[in-house]
Amino acid sequence: MTQYNVAVLGATGAVGQELLSILVERKFPFASLRLLASPRSAGRKVQVGGQDYVLEAVEADAFQGIDIAFFCAGGSVSQRWAEEAVRAGALVIDNTSAFRLDTDVPLIVPEINGPEAAKHNGIIANPNCSTIIMVMALKPILDEAGIKRVVVSTYQAVSGAGFGGMEELRQQTEDYVMGRELEAQILPVASGKRHYPIAFNLIPQIDVFTEDGYTKEEWKMIRETQKILGIPDLPITATTVRVPTMRSHCESINVETERPLSPERCREILAEFPGVEVLDSPEEQLYPMPQFTSGRDEVFIGRIRRDPTVPYGLNLWAVGDQIRKGAALNAVQIAEYCTQQMG
Ligand SMILES: NC(=O)c1ccc[n+]([C@@H]2O[C@H](COP(=O)([O-])OP(=O)(O)OC[C@H]3O[C@@H](n4cnc5c(N)ncnc54)[C@H](OP(=O)(O)O)[C@@H]3O)[C@@H](O)[C@H]2O)c1
Repeated sequence: MTQYNVAVLGATGAVGQELLSILVERKFPFASLRLLASPRSAGRKVQVGGQDYVLEAVEADAFQGIDIAFFCAGGSVSQRWAEEAVRAGALVIDNTSAFRLDTDVPLIVPEINGPEAAKHNGIIANPNCSTIIMVMALKPILDEAGIKRVVVSTYQAVSGAGFGGMEELRQQTEDYVMGRELEAQILPVASGKRHYPIAFNLIPQIDVFTEDGYTKEEWKMIRETQKILGIPDLPITATTVRVPTMRSHCESINVETERPLSPERCREILAEFPGVEVLDSPEEQLYPMPQFTSGRDEVFIGRIRRDPTVPYGLNLWAVGDQIRKGAALNAVQIAEYCTQQMG
């Protein structure tokens, strides 16, 4: 079996750490592993699969000899280093939003549009975490009944904002219980003017606002979904909300279809789709929840029911571990897909 020299940029972060575990878990054939982060982490040791690796600061020759480079250190870091990695001969699989909408960069969810990956010019983009969870639910519905319009509202975990977001919720929860004042420095947006506590709260802002009153996260869900499904004018509207859960994003999705689709048939086609698990039994009070989907690979779907306000419409509830299928797992699946194609 061919083996690959792999680099992970952002190896100390929430996505980077998960990615390293998934490479080991799925026995990705790496001949060598280079762990890159900021100069803050250089020299620190990290264990991967029982072996010690020394973190290096990313710099000019970091990608020499690398076959596959996973980028998970933020958009500006990708902008700075992706071309350099490609010039050094690496295939870059980028977890950030830096290149997702570039016309010459495939945006890939392997179960949905894997073959598009072949069109890459050195960079393949991994979609936004909420987008991946939504398209996993929409694709089988699109193929079965066509889609006329989608309305989605998200309930996004703090780990979507990285380890910093998780630590903020943990600390604020402790402070709340102890009756101390809550300090917020990261959410909703680290670089923003205002910060709000997330503990015992909801924040209807993820990423920065655009001039039309939507946030960039909302536009990512809309534009990226259109690109992945190959329907540039598919009507989608989104509201994205940060909630005080640690991990696993939830989405309430309203889909109006072109043709009739019963909840029963919808359950069947979703259950048959790779990577999706239907958990939908109201009589037994069974539906997906973050406490039970965290650490899992599948996108779970429940609460499937008819929307009687339109001719053909359904409501559903999709939940997925956004650090796994929404980021690290999908990135590794892209790499697996590409290496299988390379033979
Ligand atoms: N968290 C999610 O659910 C999720 C899902 C999908 C996509 N993403 C995207 O994945 C990326 C990483 O997110 P995260 O949640 O893993 O963030 P995170 O936990 O804050 O980790 C950030 C990582 O980037 C590294 N880094 C920061 N500045 C750097 C620089 N100038 N040069 C080199 N490395 C640098 C950090 O290294 P140090 O430790 O050395 O600072 C750390 O390894 C972001 O673009 C995010 O939007 C995240």
